[in-house]
Amino acid sequence: MNILILGSGGREHAFSWKISQSNQCDQLYIAPGNAGTASLGQNIDMNVNDFEAIAAFVIEKSVDLVVVGPEDPLVNGISDYFKADERLKKVGLVGPSKEGAQLEGSKDYSKQFMNRYEIPTAKSQTFTKENLEEGLNYITSHPLPIVLKADGLAAGKGVIIAETHDHARTTLKEMLLDAKFGEASSRVVIEQFLEGIELSVFVLTDGDNYKILPEAKDYKRIGEDDKGLNTGGMGAVSPVPFAKGDFISKVEERVVKPTVAGLKKEGIDYKGFIFIGLMNMNGEPYVIEYNVRMGDPETQVVLPRIDSDLVDLLTATANGTLDKTEFSVSDQAATTVVMVSGGYPGSYDKGIAISGVDSVSEATVFHAGTKLGENAELLTNGGRVLAITGRGNSVANALENSYNGIANITWKDEYHRNDIGQDILKLID
Ligand code: AMP
Ligand code: GLY
Repeated sequence: MNILILGSGGREHAFSWKISQSNQCDQLYIAPGNAGTASLGQNIDMNVNDFEAIAAFVIEKSVDLVVVGPEDPLVNGISDYFKADERLKKVGLVGPSKEGAQLEGSKDYSKQFMNRYEIPTAKSQTFTKENLEEGLNYITSHPLPIVLKADGLAAGKGVIIAETHDHARTTLKEMLLDAKFGEASSRVVIEQFLEGIELSVFVLTDGDNYKILPEAKDYKRIGEDDKGLNTGGMGAVSPVPFAKGDFISKVEERVVKPTVAGLKKEGIDYKGFIFIGLMNMNGEPYVIEYNVRMGDPETQVVLPRIDSDLVDLLTATANGTLDKTEFSVSDQAATTVVMVSGGYPGSYDKGIAISGVDSVSEATVFHAGTKLGENAELLTNGGRVLAITGRGNSVANALENSYNGIANITWKDEYHRNDIGQDILKLID
């Protein structure tokens, strides 16, 4: 089979790594890819939102399967675009329809969806410029802290947790009146703050059947002890100790089943990943958000724990035969630590030479923001540069391998967190 992966991050390098292990994969293309994906397949200089160019490429190269990494093309309707073109109808595409992608594209839509199917989530109300006064009054009578969320996609920045009513009111006005997050904050979801431990559960569904993939916990803040600015993710760990037995059964019964059944009932074509952000509140799962794709860097710990052939699973997802597909998960733990450019998530330099990647033997190096220079030297090309995945018989072992891997690699102003997984180790003790 010829397979095209859309995207350019660590997630897409991890997809390339796992897909290229399958003997079903003939040609592997990644658009646009990075220096890491270039060693596993052919990078194609194509924008993930340029559907016309993607369609022409798929036809020219007889691509059989398209795996969509990031949310943008899904929210923009790449799946519908493929379905509408006679020549592309036979091409398998892993990713939901435009309507299904609204689970991530609009927080208000996802809240309404959860409420319709009684899926546990924080109580909320949605406001626009038209009912701003009502929103301000709602804040006044709401216990603290208060969570305000831009309705639309805001590159992970659209959530504000306000500790005072004044801050919440000012933020609401900035979002609705001053377009703090552009069009994304023309609607704002105000919700109850959930206290607990976060984790993410990943589901692969063909619209009827589903497989629950390994769960993960990620580390969003730039600083150790989860301090400082939000990032795309500084590391991830799988498994999460409490995500088994009773807890995971509750997630399956109260969240996964009604989500898949609800999508089907509404006639929404959903063949792809559902990334469920959860809060464990005293053993009870609550949904914080849905994403309609895999996470980055979560993919870098989830895929290494899947023993089955990923191409089998993805093909079955596109064909609606997931129930007939073998699926097994490794008992091993996987951890990933993200190495970033100094200054990230603020401004940072690009094009800095990276050394030591070839010396890493105890871990897998997934590239995110990298490119090859004129003499094929490895250079930084983004905020998040590399994700170093270790595996082991325990989370502690896996972390040791991640950090031993990191010790080989250096570049000017490189930064990573040294405390990834430490909270998980405490839970195990
Ligand atoms: P989201 O973009 O919805 O994932 O929100 C970003 C982050 O904000 C989440 O990963 C949580 O850490 C936090 N968050 C969002 N909603 C809530 C909530 N209702 N209660 C507590 N924390 C939240
Ligand atoms: N790591 C969070 C995300 O991919 O959305």
